[in-house]
Order: sequence, then C-alpha cells, then structure tokens
Amino acid sequence: MKEVQDHYFKKAKKEGYAARSAFKLEEIDTKHKLLKSGSKVIDLGCYPGSWMQYVSGKIGDKGLVLGIDRTALQISLKDNMRFIHSDINELDLSTLENVATRFNLVISDMAPNTTGVKGVDAARSLQLCEMALLVARERLHPDGAVLVKILRGGTFDELLRQMRNEYRIVKTIKPKSSRKESKEIFVLGMHRK
Ligand SMILES: C[S@@+](CC[C@H](N)C(=O)[O-])C[C@H]1O[C@@H](n2cnc3c(N)ncnc32)[C@H](O)[C@@H]1O
Repeated sequence: MKEVQDHYFKKAKKEGYAARSAFKLEEIDTKHKLLKSGSKVIDLGCYPGSWMQYVSGKIGDKGLVLGIDRTALQISLKDNMRFIHSDINELDLSTLENVATRFNLVISDMAPNTTGVKGVDAARSLQLCEMALLVARERLHPDGAVLVKILRGGTFDELLRQMRNEYRIVKTIKPKSSRKESKEIFVLGMHRK
C-alpha cells in the first residue's frame, strides 16, 4: 500500500501538482467525462490546489475554475483560475454570481478537522457536503454535476438520500488512487430534478 502511495506522491511531484489528490479527480473525470473545454467549475476546499491545477488544464482559456478554501492558496493562479479565501460556512453565496451566473460543475474535496469521535466526524463531513449541495442548488446549470467527498460512516446514507432526492443520477465512487484504508468516498450527482 505504501508503495502505491509513494507512486502517486512521486507522480504528483513530477507532474507539478500541489498534491496527489489530483489523480483522484483525474480518475473520476476520465471515467465520467465531467470536464470539457470552456467548463465553469467551483472547487470547494481547494487548498493546496491540485484539483484546480488539473481542472485549469482541462477547461482551457474559455473555462473558469473558482476555488474556495479557508486556507490561503500558495500556487500561482493561471488566467482561468480565481480564488476566494473563506470558510464556506461564512461565505455570502450570492457573491458567487459575480464570478459567473451558472457553473457546469461543483466539486468538493472538503474534509472536516477530525476528532476521532465517529459520530462527530461523520456529522461534520455531512455538513460540508450539504454546503456543497447548497452551492450547487444556487449556481449549478440544470445539466451540471456535483461531486462531493464524504467520510463513510453513519451519515453516508443520509447524503445518498438527499442527493437522490435532488439528482436523477447518483453514483458512489472510490478511486484507485484513494487509500484503501481511508474512509473517504466520492458521490457524483448528475442532472438536477
Ligand atoms: C483534502 S484538502 C483538499 C485538497 C485539494 N482538493 C487539492 O487537490 O489540492 C481539504 C480542504 O478542505 C478545506 N476545508 C475544510 N473545511 C472547510 C470549510 N468549512 N470551508 C472552506 N474550506 C474548508 C481545508 O482547508 C482543506 O484545505
């Protein structure tokens, strides 16, 4: 397992990514074709920026990726990248409209500070996913998609329930590049009802 992780760590370094997380998004995107030239994307919990780097390369000059994180980004921003330094729970979501009226994709790799207390961590993880769903509700194009990370636990079924209520297609994804022992799992929602 460690060797696999070392592989992704080295690959990220070699390809200039800020983190190996980029390969999880790459795997999901390759399979589900989420990103296109010109796509507009909101990336929640974007620090240190590897998802933004991957997205920026895929969407090209006509696309736009807006990253939001409570930690300031250190990577240099390309012309198709924007960044808002804020906790998502404190952000006035109406300001997102100033960046673009409609987005094609909302992605969230947000992870809570874990306490080790299962119920608390699961509840915090769900709350961050619910914020991503709220952002999607406000700014996503009807044909757009939302991808969220959740820590598998008591609240996973609740997230699926909420997403199935709102999206016609809901898929759970565990990328190969995600550590097997990690509780993280991604849920993709497509086509708002
Ligand atoms: C696993 S990292 C994201 C890695 C990123 N996708 C990448 O590829 O570089 C999770 C991020 O979620 C952010 N985060 C967690 N809770 C947040 C919140 N309430 N508001 C904004 N960002 C949050 C953390 O600051 C952290 O940078």
